Amino acid sequence: EEAFDRIEHPAPILSLDNAFSIEELTTWQERITKLDERVRGSGFSLEPKLDGLSVVLHYENGIFIRGATRGNSLVGEEITENLRTIRSLPLRIPQDPDSRPAPARLVVRGEAFLKLSAFESLNEKLAAKGEKTYVNPRNTAAGSLRQLDSSLTAKRPLSLLVYQIVDSSDPLPGTQQETLEYLQLQGFPVPEYDIVQTLDEVIEHLEKWDLAREQIDYEIDGVVIKLNDLDLVNDLGVVGKAPRGAIAYKFPAQVVTTQLEEIRTNVGRTGVLTPYAVLEPVEIGGVTVRQATLHNFDFIAEKDIRVGDRVMVKRAGEVIPYVMGPVTDLRTGDEIAYDPPRVCPVCEEPVEHFQGEVAWYCVNASCEAQLIRNIEHFVSRPAMDIVGLGIKIVEQLAKEGLVRNVSDLYKLQREDLLQLEGFAEKKADNLLEAIQQSKDQPLARVI
Ligand code: IVH
Repeated sequence: EEAFDRIEHPAPILSLDNAFSIEELTTWQERITKLDERVRGSGFSLEPKLDGLSVVLHYENGIFIRGATRGNSLVGEEITENLRTIRSLPLRIPQDPDSRPAPARLVVRGEAFLKLSAFESLNEKLAAKGEKTYVNPRNTAAGSLRQLDSSLTAKRPLSLLVYQIVDSSDPLPGTQQETLEYLQLQGFPVPEYDIVQTLDEVIEHLEKWDLAREQIDYEIDGVVIKLNDLDLVNDLGVVGKAPRGAIAYKFPAQVVTTQLEEIRTNVGRTGVLTPYAVLEPVEIGGVTVRQATLHNFDFIAEKDIRVGDRVMVKRAGEVIPYVMGPVTDLRTGDEIAYDPPRVCPVCEEPVEHFQGEVAWYCVNASCEAQLIRNIEHFVSRPAMDIVGLGIKIVEQLAKEGLVRNVSDLYKLQREDLLQLEGFAEKKADNLLEAIQQSKDQPLARVI
């Protein structure tokens, strides 16, 4: 492929060795302490290990002039225009004109990634258009950065966190802490970090990061532990392509295998059919997983996923768990190949396929599934924001025939609601009040 120009990096863009246990961390520390006693006094920085792609950003006199992928660590691909679409990438530094002027030449390294929320909403949009959805945020970010048309990159809104100075015409900060402080002052987005003195403290903090993982809007697959003293890191040198003075502690895998018991189909608001797996319940990262998405029917066919298969399931942060594929070695011969449904699982009308799209649709406008999803969307926070009108109630209203389209919501009477299960007078009045209030929402929300 010759689609992108090549850019030589001013210094090798190194990778990291991994530690999969506390024991391996201790071994690492002992090994480098033997090589250099200064390790005892250096202290450590801890940063999230972002599950994205390394990018290298070149600034001349404070202007972003070009950027590259990591490539083979010595030479990367020039993706300047795509990087310019990243909103948090400063095109000019320092961002704050009162701070120290930018060096004549500065090359920094960071990670470009897709937030989980951006990944989910991108997939929702693709699915609604009948297009193929992406499997995980990292693949999506990789695809996004390598688009030949940067207007396509802009539609997959990437985030950036910068954590290293690769080269500078000014003297380099002596510690990782000073590096991150300096980068932040220049206007770069930097990761959150901890500075600690001992390995025991490092270990204490790992737990905190493991827990934080559930809360933050991007995937991290571990914690990067760096000696804070960067001269020391430099002196310790490199083994293969990894510096001795840093290591990636990887969290226990979020991938498990379990039995695929059944394949069922959801019908979305636009009528798109989405298959999902019913699994033998399994724990992933402290959460019991019973279902996982199968993306689309082509995915099932491409991966040759069969009912009864032992499948690998991945759960990352708050992303819906997904089936990665079957463990074919464990097949017994009793697995059953899967045929996509020919009729809508809700209204039983025939489903349709449009040329050039991967999706199958239920095209029956009065299909109850579509009605329910439509109303759910209408009452949701970004749209009309009708508080108290959750999925359960929408389903109740649709099943009882009280609501056949969104405008029926505004015709609901107190008596209608009181006949529903679980509705007392106060609940009915509150809901009617909320529906009335939503009439004050601006027109943009209605559309
Ligand atoms: S430092 C010498 N810090 O992880 C510096 N890397 O598995 C080496 N990564 O190739 C990299 N978050 O793409 C560093 N906070 C972080 C990181 C990070 C993610 C990536 C990076 C590297 C890979 C190694």
